[in-house]
Amino acid sequence: MAQPVRKAVFPVAGLGTRFLPATKIIPKEMIPVVDKPVIQYAVEEALAAGIEHFIFVTSDGKESIAAHFAEHAELEKTLKARGKATELSLVQAATLPSGSVHTVLQPEPLGLGHAVWCAREFVGDEPFAVLLPDDMVLSKTPCLKQLIDAHADVGGHVVAVEDVPSEKTNRYGILDVLSETGRLAKAKGLVEKPAPDVAPSTLAIIGRYVLDASVFRALDNHTRGAGGEIQLTDALNSTLADQSFHGLRFEGARYDCGNQVGFVEANVAFALSNPEMSEKLKPLLRALLNHH
Ligand code: G1P
Repeated sequence: MAQPVRKAVFPVAGLGTRFLPATKIIPKEMIPVVDKPVIQYAVEEALAAGIEHFIFVTSDGKESIAAHFAEHAELEKTLKARGKATELSLVQAATLPSGSVHTVLQPEPLGLGHAVWCAREFVGDEPFAVLLPDDMVLSKTPCLKQLIDAHADVGGHVVAVEDVPSEKTNRYGILDVLSETGRLAKAKGLVEKPAPDVAPSTLAIIGRYVLDASVFRALDNHTRGAGGEIQLTDALNSTLADQSFHGLRFEGARYDCGNQVGFVEANVAFALSNPEMSEKLKPLLRALLNHH
């Protein structure tokens, strides 16, 4: 029986250069998709999956991320006094219990593996989740919950995967698949951002992971990989002699908010997933398409 997954790491130290000038002062993760900052979707997904501790790996100037989830007594008082119950509930829904939010500084942008390694003292020796907020998932069952349920069965490392077009393997961690059972693909190897001609498959890791803590020992070496960065994929690959690694073909649709077109797509998709908004938006979208 696998240990429960109680802690989640959110690597949010990036500069968000693809979204300048919007990210000159505001962290990329604080830019809203429809009605909530991007980071809140990832946090809500983690909450819905039973996560109790939220570890933000940040950098200087990104204090507003943790602040967004802290209690805002003054605002709550004002909203209560004005009888604004709906608004009050929105503020409270963005508030995590005190003591459940932890912030760790990643002093240098050395890669995703390094960001996760920075959280090792808070995680300790138990399985933990990693959520990359840029990857947003619309699904019936929260994507992380699907991973945690699979992890309870198979243990080891369990990550979300999906097939990508072969010309895009160089953007992802790619699985070298050993066998497939239902939605689970067992990997015998992992490669970070392989060129299409050398990629072992087209099955790509997307930004949701449930990891065994042994990955921290692999990350201790600070080995550089693709792009000169300390890669999480490489560290996971080096644990495969002792740990199983399963990719779960999760149920749901993934949107990549890490680039501007994907960000706009996510806004439209999340807006259309809200029935009230969808009804108003559809004719507007149709009219726009007719004019372009
Ligand atoms: C990171 C990981 C990669 C994974 C991807 C998912 O890459 O290194 O293995 O497939 O996230 O979004 P990044 O998008 O940070 O370059």
